[in-house]
Amino acid sequence: MKHVLVITYSQSGQLDDIVTNITHNLSDKIKIHYHKIKPIPDFPFPWTGKSFWNAMPESVQMIPSDITPLNIDEQIDYDLIIIGYPIWFLSPAIPITSFLKCNQAKSILANKPVLTVIGARNMWVMAQEEIKKMIYECNGKLVGNIALCDKHYNLVSVITIIYWMMSGKKNKYLGIFPKPGISDEDISNVSILSPVISNSVINSDYDNLNEKLIALKAVRLIPDIVSIEEKGKRMFKIWSKFILKKGGPESNKRAFRLKLFSRYLLFVIFVVSPIASLIYYLTWPVLFMRIRRKLKYYKGVRLKAQ
Ligand SMILES: Cc1cc2nc3c(=O)[nH]c(=O)nc-3n(C[C@H](O)[C@H](O)[C@H](O)COP(=O)(O)O)c2cc1C
Repeated sequence: MKHVLVITYSQSGQLDDIVTNITHNLSDKIKIHYHKIKPIPDFPFPWTGKSFWNAMPESVQMIPSDITPLNIDEQIDYDLIIIGYPIWFLSPAIPITSFLKCNQAKSILANKPVLTVIGARNMWVMAQEEIKKMIYECNGKLVGNIALCDKHYNLVSVITIIYWMMSGKKNKYLGIFPKPGISDEDISNVSILSPVISNSVINSDYDNLNEKLIALKAVRLIPDIVSIEEKGKRMFKIWSKFILKKGGPESNKRAFRLKLFSRYLLFVIFVVSPIASLIYYLTWPVLFMRIRRKLKYYKGVRLKAQ
């Protein structure tokens, strides 16, 4: 019998549905061990405006919060570890960072193949770079990545995700916007990836797993969105440091700076990013080779030398 350990964090259950559709269709020669990360205290869902923006500095600076230790049977020699996570502010969600930075993760991931599964709006590459680093620091080996996104136009998905996160309802905002998040069809179709994962686990051969997943369209990248994300992450790092000077998550003193950040971000999303996308595509022919190289790297499992 082979053993796969699955560790996830999901608020609405969207990410859990994706991971379950993958694992339920793995070979019956594989036993799955599920564990959910539980932050102390848990983050609210639905979010309030205040709690939502307040999660930004710690998400971006990857400051861990407390989590309940996972009740993992460490006597089992796991053949694969699947880590499923959502993205918060272009960074791994705080509960996943908290897990990957704890000592338990170091002992569990050491010398193990790791497959990451992301359920995001559409901006996940910067977070995945941080995840690559944390897996590397735990001596784990990233062997594959699956990233599902909301395929609607960027600005539409911003509106629908804000509605979903603030109301907790994954339905059509005002009856006219599309359903938020990853489509039901994409969540259900992710099971087509299960046979290649089963093969790798059964043969203990992960050498080409990521290439096979990419061929099955397991990751979705939109070039201009990646470019916006790279610049956005640099700005988020500056803003998060600026806000953290006023204290940690409990501090009321950072309220004004968080408000400034929220206004800045909405301005960038709705005014600057459409212009940036236009400029990006105008320069596309000149930068074609560079862009292609970059996208290939982000889809891959290799971590650039620091
Ligand atoms: C605080 C917060 C920030 C988010 N930031 C991003 C982001 O930067 N990029 C992105 O693609 N999705 C972002 N999302 C969407 C999440 O990645 C995810 O798709 C959504 O929260 C549903 O995940 P769940 O499975 O935990 O319910 C954000 C969500 C939250 C709550």
